[in-house]
Amino acid sequence: MISDQLFYKFSNILNKEIGLSLPLKKKYLLYTRLTGRLRELGLNDFDTYYNLIIGNRSELVKLYNLLTTNVTRFFREKYHFKYLQEEVLPLFLTAEKKKIRAWSAGCSTGEEAYSLAIVLEQFFQGKGYDIKIIATDINTEVLEFARKGVYSYQKVADIPYELLTRYFMLGQEQNRGFFKVKNHLRKMLTFENLNLNLEDYAINYKFDFIFCRNVFIYFDQKTRKRILNNFYNYLQDDGYLFLGHADSTRLNSNKWLQVWKTTFQKNI
Ligand SMILES: C[S@@+](CC[C@H](N)C(=O)[O-])C[C@H]1O[C@@H](n2cnc3c(N)ncnc32)[C@H](O)[C@@H]1O
Repeated sequence: MISDQLFYKFSNILNKEIGLSLPLKKKYLLYTRLTGRLRELGLNDFDTYYNLIIGNRSELVKLYNLLTTNVTRFFREKYHFKYLQEEVLPLFLTAEKKKIRAWSAGCSTGEEAYSLAIVLEQFFQGKGYDIKIIATDINTEVLEFARKGVYSYQKVADIPYELLTRYFMLGQEQNRGFFKVKNHLRKMLTFENLNLNLEDYAINYKFDFIFCRNVFIYFDQKTRKRILNNFYNYLQDDGYLFLGHADSTRLNSNKWLQVWKTTFQKNI
């Protein structure tokens, strides 16, 4: 079992390092997610595991992988993609620069980033735009999955048939039932390990759009505020921030203009 005292030691580390807010009522979640790892390591108790992670970078990475929640799907919260396509992207056609930079922050297994790539590719195809999407996550395992870009039949079930055939290859023989993102779409994306709970990020350019959906729900208000501030600095002056429907966060109206459902434009 995990004592309350030990639970707080784990939750303090998770909060300090990756911003995760884990209240005591989540003790059972900590227990269930770590039990398998203890078994793998042949450890009998959680105290020993706690002592093992202290100062052990690679075990901390494993801890983050086990404790993050990675639920996602293609075209989740569809109204954001519709808004982007119908209201935002047309504005770029009249702009001088033919360059689009987008960020899927907390991308999990990649569905959000590939959905965004599909919308951008469809809209700008043949118009000579330079489009790049960076997709980042703290969890190294989901990133590995995302980089491969291979999804089961169930995962792609919500993608319209026309888009599926245009952007995915159907697996043959032992890959039957799986769909792989086609190279021309895959080339638009880079997947990187990035902890949002840092003062600053190793990114040296600004974005036209940042999607950070269903990530803030795991953070406390202080962490959300700091990350929002970073996003503000990483957005172009007319850039957009898309949050998730559950990320109930009050945004400073001097800095952010709400333009659509959980969609904000940088206010300068
Ligand atoms: C529920 S998923 C959301 C996926 C996608 N954005 C969506 O809306 O479908 C939340 C993701 O945030 C990531 N995450 C949590 N804390 C993070 C942090 N400190 N830095 C970067 N990513 C983090 C998790 O690993 C997880 O993949």
